[in-house]
Amino acid sequence: MTHHALKNIPNHVAIIMDGNGRWANVRGLPRSMGHRKGVESVREAVRTAADAGVAYLTLFAFSSENWSRPESEVSDLMGLLKTFIRRDLATLHKENVRIRVIGDRSNLRDDILPLLLEAEEKTRDNTSITLVIAFNYGARDEIARAVRSIAGDVSIGLIHPAQVTSELISARLDTAGIPDPDLIIRTSGEERLSNFLLWQAAYAELMFVPEFWPDFSRATFLQALANYAGRERRFGGVPAPTLAVGS
Ligand code: FPP
Repeated sequence: MTHHALKNIPNHVAIIMDGNGRWANVRGLPRSMGHRKGVESVREAVRTAADAGVAYLTLFAFSSENWSRPESEVSDLMGLLKTFIRRDLATLHKENVRIRVIGDRSNLRDDILPLLLEAEEKTRDNTSITLVIAFNYGARDEIARAVRSIAGDVSIGLIHPAQVTSELISARLDTAGIPDPDLIIRTSGEERLSNFLLWQAAYAELMFVPEFWPDFSRATFLQALANYAGRERRFGGVPAPTLAVGS
């Protein structure tokens, strides 16, 4: 079922998938079960976004700060991402999904990086939705890496300080070439950005929904899209003039 009939669909939706642990807790299950169920929500969200006509969907899969979790949970999350790529890559490719990965790649385990690179390489020419996986991602770290790369070019005279514009900075971020998110959704009722897409979020609409991520269904997603469609975005300007009716 497709929903292209929906109005005012955001071009780029980014989601902070929060609440897997609490979803499991309230059921007396181990946290790992929450993450497992969370992967099912990931599959459903990609399908819903693609059907609705969303061009980019970014999912916060693992933050730079998540390393501080117990080692067993960290390796569980790594394992889930690996399984997801291994098991779903063929399907995603068949569904014409393009995969991009953002985040720090410099110290990733060598059983993970090749998988991520393979997913990007295999799907690079796909033209349906772009699924952006934020993995080992932190916005301040991303900005620091961009600034280091620009500073390096300035120090050897490749670019002049006056050429350091916001466009140049955008082009040096991991999200280079990806339009800024129009809508950022966080599940589980927490109302924070938690170091997610800080630069790119400048004009994003923010939406906080009470559902834990494993409960984030197609219906919840479509409801969020409908809510977005009713919002007025001004980008620092004034409200659009209303046409007089009947004159
Ligand atoms: C937040 O729940 C969720 C995460 C830290 C990880 C999200 C990862 C997945 C859904 C699986 C792997 C990703 C992909 C793209 C296949 P939490 O553990 O912080 O929940 P809590 O706040 O209730 O403890």
